[in-house]
Formats: sequence, structure tokens, C-alpha cells
Amino acid sequence: MLHFFNTESVFFEDSLFEDKYLSPEVQANLHEGYRLFPLRSNDFERGYLDVLSVLTEVGAHSIDTWNAQFQFMKKHNDTYFTITIMDETTNRVAATGTILIEHKFVHKNGLVGHIEDIAVDSSHQGKKLGIRIIEALKFIGQATGCYKVILDCASKNIPFYEKCGFAPKESQMAWYI
Ligand code: ACO
Repeated sequence: MLHFFNTESVFFEDSLFEDKYLSPEVQANLHEGYRLFPLRSNDFERGYLDVLSVLTEVGAHSIDTWNAQFQFMKKHNDTYFTITIMDETTNRVAATGTILIEHKFVHKNGLVGHIEDIAVDSSHQGKKLGIRIIEALKFIGQATGCYKVILDCASKNIPFYEKCGFAPKESQMAWYI
């Protein structure tokens, strides 16, 4: 936890998970001006939800709905690993992704990583941030002991995920409520 002090206020910056789950190799391979982080409690102000909106509808959030979700994820931070790549020049979130760790009986209490919610802000696309986010999430999958990491994606994104080392397998099904 980081503590920020200034003359008017004292506030706390909480990280979703420990830095040991951040890939040093990905950190080193990012272009100058970009940095990898766990999701942090003040990312609401850094435009995290704006970046997610390139993916799908995010809905109207307040600081309270943000905090409620962040605290839920923090309470379950052996399951939720959300990362950001920050644009250090603007102090805004440039890209994000999540890996959820599922605990199974099969494969002797095996773990499966589910990659979700990959989004690169439109002004930062094409700069290898997407590929770095996936590499960083694969690192977390390995570090937590997953025997496989899987994801669902639109057909148009298949070539991107193939470049990230994934291969098509089986089919995706959905039931919307
Ligand atoms: N189709 C084909 N190739 C692609 C695509 C694509 N849609 N996107 C990127 N690539 C290629 C790039 O050309 C590059 O190739 P190269 O290494 O030969 O030069 C390589 O993949 C890596 O590209 P990046 O620069 O890392 O891609 P970017 O940072 O733009 O991120 C992403 C790609 C995540 C798809 C981004 O465009 C985005 O956020 N799109 C909108 C949201 C979205 O669709 N997210 C994925 C949802 S699926 C899920 O969440 C599991």
C-alpha cells in the first residue's frame, strides 16, 4: 500500500495484488514512458473505465460503485488479477487485462486461468501494448500454477491472439439473460 501526503490531504493507494506477479521481462520490454502495474484503488481517476469502454458498454459508475468492486476483487485477490499499463507522461491508464484463476477438482485440484477484458485505449493501439498485456497475464497464469490459460474472443481478433501464442480450440457458447 502506498501513502500519498500533501499539505491538504492524506490518501492511500491500494494495489489489487503483490508486485511479485508482475513480469520483469514485460516491464523491461515496454517502450519508454509506459509502466506495468496491478490495478490500483485510484485508477478510477486515471481513466481505467474509459479504457474498458473500447471493449464494451461499461455503464455509469460513481466512486462508490468503483470502490465496492475494487474491494470485492481485493478480498478475492487469489482469483482476480487485473493489470494496467500506464502512460507515465499523462498518468492515465493506456491498457488493461484480467486473468481469473479458477480452482478445479479435475487435474488434481488444477488451476485454469481465464483471460478477460483486454482493452487498449484507441490512442495507444498498435504499440505492442496488447501483446505485452497478454504476456503479463500468461506470466501470472504460470506464477499461480495454472495448467492452462484460455480465453474467448471475436473472430476478428483471432490473428492477434495467435500472435500471442494461443491456438483455436473447441467452441464458445453463450446464454444471455
Ligand atoms: N487482427 C490482426 N492482427 C492484430 C489485431 C487484429 N485485430 N490487433 C493487433 N494485431 C497484431 C498487430 O498488427 C501486431 O502484429 P506484429 O507483431 O506483427 O506487428 C500484434 O498483433 C500485436 O499488436 P499490438 O500492438 O500489441 O495490439 P494492440 O495494442 O492494438 O492491442 C487489441 C490489440 C487488444 C485487440 C486492441 O486493438 C483493442 O483493445 N481492441 C478493442 C478491444 C478488444 O477487441 N479487445 C479484445 C477482446 S477479447 C478478450 O478480452 C479476451
